[in-house]
Order: sequence, then structure tokens, then C-alpha cells
Amino acid sequence: MVFAAVLAGGKGVRMGNTDTPKQYFELGGKPVIIHTVEKFFLNDRIDEIIVLCPKQWVAHTKDLIDKYIPDGKKVSVIEGGVSRNGTLENAIEFIENNFETDEDTVIVTHDAVRPFLTHRIIVENVDAALKYGAADTVIPATDTIVESADGSIISSIPERKLMYQGQTPQSFRLKELEKTLASLTEEEKGVLTDACKIFTIKNKPVYMVDGEVFNIKITYPYDLKVAETLLKGKDTDA
Ligand code: CTP
Repeated sequence: MVFAAVLAGGKGVRMGNTDTPKQYFELGGKPVIIHTVEKFFLNDRIDEIIVLCPKQWVAHTKDLIDKYIPDGKKVSVIEGGVSRNGTLENAIEFIENNFETDEDTVIVTHDAVRPFLTHRIIVENVDAALKYGAADTVIPATDTIVESADGSIISSIPERKLMYQGQTPQSFRLKELEKTLASLTEEEKGVLTDACKIFTIKNKPVYMVDGEVFNIKITYPYDLKVAETLLKGKDTDA
């Protein structure tokens, strides 16, 4: 089975309105989170969708699913965690407690606030997770990336052609993800800023799936304006 975990447990602090997290902002007449859930709902490689959101938003999110997703039986809404990885761990626990899983079970994890993912990206994630165990969605870096250890002086400038920007989905064979997570020390867990890092710090391969420049993450108010513009174009659903 293939599960999609739509990660919507954040508060959207950088968006500036923490009363309503950005995943519930309207985009072209419906909430951002619904655009994202629809992409998975309409993809026939996805069997079940788990939406993880802040506890106080669970009831509202269920109402949104009922309103916008016809026959949304394969969509479950549950509480996320304090951190993004905590939300991922809640997804894993929910799947294990409610479904039969085996070595071929795949989890496709995706930011709720990236509503422009495509069916190609989903399919390539599922295939790459099955083949390699783990997959990340990336695009080549266009800007030069500079590294600074102290935030004021540049410590290194890595070669641009080796640099990529990470997007989501990030997808895994579920059992491999669980095994790797369980092998991490508390110290290793403390430095996890990214689900794929669970694999890279253990020197396990993560295959790179081509993302899209338009697969943006809505982080700041400016991004919502870009998203409105993208939605008006018709080239975002390859
Ligand atoms: N996320 C999550 N659980 C958390 C924190 C984040 O599921 N505890 C999700 C967010 O809802 C979002 C995605 O991870 O869909 C990407 O994170 P980010 O853009 O950093 O979202 P927020 O944490 O909401 O943003 P901010 O850092 O501005 O508060």
C-alpha cells in the first residue's frame, strides 16, 4: 500500500497570522490544504491519505474534507506533533496502528503548504521509494549557495552545480524508515531538520526526483501572491 502523509501541523509563524495557520488560507477560492489533498486524492498510486494538523484544527479540517473531497473515505485527519519530524512520527504510528503494513509499504510525505506538486512528481516518488528505499524531490540551485558558520562571515561557497534545493514530497519504504529512525541516537535526532536526513546521517542512499520550480512552499505572504498567480496559469499540473 502507498500512504500519503500531508504534513499540516505547523503554525505558520513566518506568515504572520498565527490565529489561522497558512495551510487554511484561501487560494483561488479554497483552502491551500485542500488543493494539496486533492492532488493525492486524484492520484491512483495513492491508497490512503493521512492529514496531520494542529489538535485544535482537527475538527475543522475534517469538515473541510467533507465539504471538498467527494467520498473522502480514504482520508484520515489526525493530530500532528510539536516538530515536523514529530508530525511524521505520528503518521507512522497511525499507519501501523490502523493498517496492515509490509516491506513494500510506502509513505509519501508532503508539506501541506506546497499545493502545486504534480502527478508526475508523486508517481516518481513512489517508484523511487520502492527502488531505492528513500527519495527526495529537488531542483538544481539557481542562486549560488554560501555557507556561514556565524551568520556574518562566509565560511565556504560550495560549487553551485553540486547544489540542489530540497522540496517535498519525501518518500520512503515505511519499514526502512522505521528501522532507520529507531537506530538514531538522541543526539542524532536533535539535529534532524529534514526527514531525508534520517537516511543521509546513516549513509543510506536517498534518490533525487526532479521537482518543479513552481512546486513552491508557501512560507511568507509574498509566496501566497506568487501562488495566486501560478494558479491562474495552466502549466502547473504536468
Ligand atoms: N509542519 C508540521 N508539523 C509541525 C511543523 C510543521 O506538519 N510541527 C508542516 C507545516 O504545516 C508545513 C510543513 O511542515 O506544511 C513545512 O513547514 P514550514 O513551512 O516551516 O511550516 P510552519 O512550521 O507552519 O511555518 P513557520 O516555521 O513559519 O511557523
